[in-house]
Amino acid sequence: MSDITVRNIEFRFEDDIAFQWNPGSPACGNMANVLTFIAPAFERYFIRALREALPLITDEKLAQDVDLFCKQEGQHSKSHFAHIALLTKRYPGLEETRQQVMDSYDQLLKNNDLKFHMAYMANLELFITPLGEFLIANLEKLFGKSDRRIASFILWHFIEEFEHRSVAIDVYNHLYGDYFYRLKNEFVMMRHVYGEAGGMVNEGFFKHVPARDNSIPHDDNSGLFQGTVGRGRFLLHCLKTLTPWYDPDAIKAPAWVDQWFKDDLGGADMAVYYPAKPLGEL
Ligand SMILES: [Fe+2]
Ligand SMILES: [Fe+2]
Repeated sequence: MSDITVRNIEFRFEDDIAFQWNPGSPACGNMANVLTFIAPAFERYFIRALREALPLITDEKLAQDVDLFCKQEGQHSKSHFAHIALLTKRYPGLEETRQQVMDSYDQLLKNNDLKFHMAYMANLELFITPLGEFLIANLEKLFGKSDRRIASFILWHFIEEFEHRSVAIDVYNHLYGDYFYRLKNEFVMMRHVYGEAGGMVNEGFFKHVPARDNSIPHDDNSGLFQGTVGRGRFLLHCLKTLTPWYDPDAIKAPAWVDQWFKDDLGGADMAVYYPAKPLGEL
């Protein structure tokens, strides 16, 4: 039995949600807006590459996990696309940005081999767990005064990333296990995600979203770390992912994540889970 659960939560991407949905931490708001435009592109890239990898996987449990991994990533993409649709309705030029990021990942898929795709996916997925752990360690500071319709959606994405955190590295190690190749491509992945894809999104935001619709510059993420706890742990955790023996399952999910799972099973409305009240009442 796999521990990965596929959930179909209907998040509420309603018309009154602001571009800058997080007045308490606009830097966190900016980070999530960029993620919304990049994540569906890399999630589709992962799913397509895994379709090619699946026949080569001889471990039955791993093959089952890959299937559930793809289903979870598909759900993440569906919600990010709904968030994008909300933003492109208001700023139609962002459709061009969405397409540019998609095209960039299509090129990546076309121009590289399966080993590269699996290394890229493993490296990126390994980085998401420390980031999620850091965000949750600073939950109140980063999400405490934000629109809960977007906060709950973004937090759900990071929580499910905890759930499937070991699948990508397990696939890479099962098929290749070539540590130095993975390490070499860590920097290729970072340049592509943060430089190319992230650069495209920020350029699109500056071009199509008026500065008055944000309280800080669209590309300002500096506040994400100022005054937060666990920065050293986050850095150390990121560095650990670069070691050959790194096992993401050795990282225990924060207690808040376990509570989220319990509340989800208990029937709570996860689409407006955190913060507890609508923005106007905080
Ligand atoms: Fe995801
Ligand atoms: Fe993922």
